[in-house]
Amino acid sequence: MGNPIYLALDFNDWQETEQFLDKHQLDRVAVKVGMELFYHEGPDVIKRLRDRGHDIFLDIKLHDIPTTIYKAMKNIAKLDVELTNVHGLGGGEMIRAAKAGLLDGAKNSKPPELLAVTLLTSMQKEVLEQELNIQGSIEDTVTHLAKLAQDNGADGVVCSAHEVRALKAICGRAFLAVTPGIRLLNSDSDDQKRVATPALAKRNGADALVIGRSITLAEDPKQAYIIAKEEWNA
Ligand code: C5P
Repeated sequence: MGNPIYLALDFNDWQETEQFLDKHQLDRVAVKVGMELFYHEGPDVIKRLRDRGHDIFLDIKLHDIPTTIYKAMKNIAKLDVELTNVHGLGGGEMIRAAKAGLLDGAKNSKPPELLAVTLLTSMQKEVLEQELNIQGSIEDTVTHLAKLAQDNGADGVVCSAHEVRALKAICGRAFLAVTPGIRLLNSDSDDQKRVATPALAKRNGADALVIGRSITLAEDPKQAYIIAKEEWNA
């Protein structure tokens, strides 16, 4: 995985997406395609972005029984994306099935790397405890899920920048940590709760950032992208 920033293309359809990329000259930047765009456009959106030279993180957070996940991942492996993911809460057998599907589906090409979502960056401790009955600190839960993901073949996790240090101490530096919930200094947190700046994520050892609204809703998205990249490189 060689890209430090994945721009979250949280747009409703291809027209909006293409207009945004063209208007702000975000040529060939690495992008993240999530459920909103993928469910509207289908796999064809991946081909269109590949044809424009974008590396892609397909963020559809699968969570189902192992057999279904295996078959879904076999199909995803043929899409030519760099990264994709499942929910770590799906358990070890499901994560192993995801990895096997990616390897079997890719055949002779390079399989996408598999990330497991630990806890969504929109989650807070109260929700985990009171609604989901998950006790213990967020850091402990995230590191536990990261270790589970690693032991079952995932290449890394999606987590908040605040948990990267702890999980790298347990899983090692080579285990990937991709961090959403990133905000530039003057931007709103929106529905995200465990937010961090690009600089903090980098300092804590993140391998890549996912950034959406701090760039897409900025007055000058290209400039916001450049600032994020500069902060990362500093
Ligand atoms: O706009 P913002 O930067 O908050 O967007 C974050 C993106 O990262 C969204 O597309 C969201 O689905 C995704 N994401 C996340 N938290 C995770 C995994 C993915 O926010 N744990």
